Amino acid sequence: MTHADTPWWKSAVVYQIYPRSFCDTNGDGVGDLEGIRRHLDHLVWLGVDAIWISPFFRSPMKDYGYDVSDYCDVDPLFGTLADFDRLLGDAHARGLRVLIDWVPNHTSDEHPWFVEARSSRSSSKRSWYVWRDGTPDRPPNNWRAAFSADPAWTWDAKTQQWYLHLFLPEQPDLDWDEPAVEAAMHETLRFWLARGVDGFRMDVVHCIGKDPALPSVAAERARIPYCALNEHESTHERLRRIRELVDSWPGERVMVGEVAVPWTDVVARHYGENDELHLAFNFPPLFAPWEAAAWRERIDQTRGALDPREAWPTWVLSNHDNRRHRTRYGSEARARAAAVLLLGLRGTPFLYAGEELGLEDAVIPPARVLDPGGRDGCRAPLPWEPTPGHGWGAREPWLPWPPDAVQRSVAALRADPASILHLYRRLLALRRSSPALRLGEFRWLDAPAGVLAWERRCAGDRCVVAVNFSDTDAHAVLTTGLRVEIASDGLGEGAPYAGRIGPDQALVLRTGL
Ligand code: NOJ
Ligand code: CA
Repeated sequence: MTHADTPWWKSAVVYQIYPRSFCDTNGDGVGDLEGIRRHLDHLVWLGVDAIWISPFFRSPMKDYGYDVSDYCDVDPLFGTLADFDRLLGDAHARGLRVLIDWVPNHTSDEHPWFVEARSSRSSSKRSWYVWRDGTPDRPPNNWRAAFSADPAWTWDAKTQQWYLHLFLPEQPDLDWDEPAVEAAMHETLRFWLARGVDGFRMDVVHCIGKDPALPSVAAERARIPYCALNEHESTHERLRRIRELVDSWPGERVMVGEVAVPWTDVVARHYGENDELHLAFNFPPLFAPWEAAAWRERIDQTRGALDPREAWPTWVLSNHDNRRHRTRYGSEARARAAAVLLLGLRGTPFLYAGEELGLEDAVIPPARVLDPGGRDGCRAPLPWEPTPGHGWGAREPWLPWPPDAVQRSVAALRADPASILHLYRRLLALRRSSPALRLGEFRWLDAPAGVLAWERRCAGDRCVVAVNFSDTDAHAVLTTGLRVEIASDGLGEGAPYAGRIGPDQALVLRTGL
């Protein structure tokens, strides 16, 4: 494959925006679409290629937008469809692609489809959701919902049946065995494709096919939320039909599926024979500790599962569902080294807004806890300015500011060339200019314990990435004639590589002395 016909999303870096937390422009304390539009130039300066915006559709916000009550409209909290069109136009004018978040497994309980479905057993939409007979004391199976220890079933007293919800009771699962559901959800994709979006992040898309017999899971698995266990053949044919639809639109639109299971081989199956997802999230690396051996294992698992299918990997360290890696790894030095790791691997990296600022999770006082899943800390608002209010509208934001919001504001870090923000910017610029880093082959190099080193090579271009996960100096020859192109702590950039990697330091090295 030549570079000219490589799809854009293989060499792109995608930046995830949680819209509530990015920037508020109207003073209600909640980020909005206009807040994203106003900061597009900053994202261009940073050097990302695409943004993925978490849900901004109409929603009662029980799961902060992942409970959609109208797939084809913007929630007034975030703005209007006209605001979205303006944002999309301005992004495209700057060469930024825009992915939106499609939530196909469930709707809000306030979606008109569910309101109709639950109105009576003979409702025309009854079959759009998953209902089962029974008695109020005994759910139809032992599946567990996410965010609690409760069953994935709620008893509907009015119609005397259970309905299924893999997440909150306010998020009833659609029944994709009903052809009208598939047709209606395809329509929602067409709506946004016609508006010009470049693709979709697809929420827990591995759950749209379920065993119609809804069998209980083995007792030892009954404590795991069922959404992390589901895999069914029917998902694959549904993904193929969605892929056909998305591919039939001009301009290489992309489907990035969230396959939220802890097994990379299951993730890999959702790429199909290059006829299902273009990209799938693979979370085992996100859950790996900051240890060379753990990372080596996860990288090898990923290569082992995806390479034979010619499936292109994704890499994620942080998102709106998990503690930030800056918090998990425990220091800025490690967060910086992790940035080199993430942007040096073979695959499409996803950045979560704020990681380029080295943000830690906010401490949430009990009185301000909002999320039923305990994820508020990583959703703290982004500080843009060091001044009070941090560049947001006047009121207190919906969640507390993260630690050190003054020093870690975008403006403060932009003014400091040694900051983590500038490290991300240098890494993104290097990636853009280096075919080896964007698309090159991956090969491990010998390295001492505690260090991972690999080579990326594409035609004449060659980069070596070395990450020291340990807290002591490491000495590694790697190969001769290398120059330090980027150092996670900025030290020695431009100098010949002398064979030493500092504690929690990562380097990108290049030939060219
Ligand atoms: C995965 C999303 O990332 C998460 O935020 C959400 O709560 C669940 N899916 C349910 O939609
Ligand atoms: Ca707002």
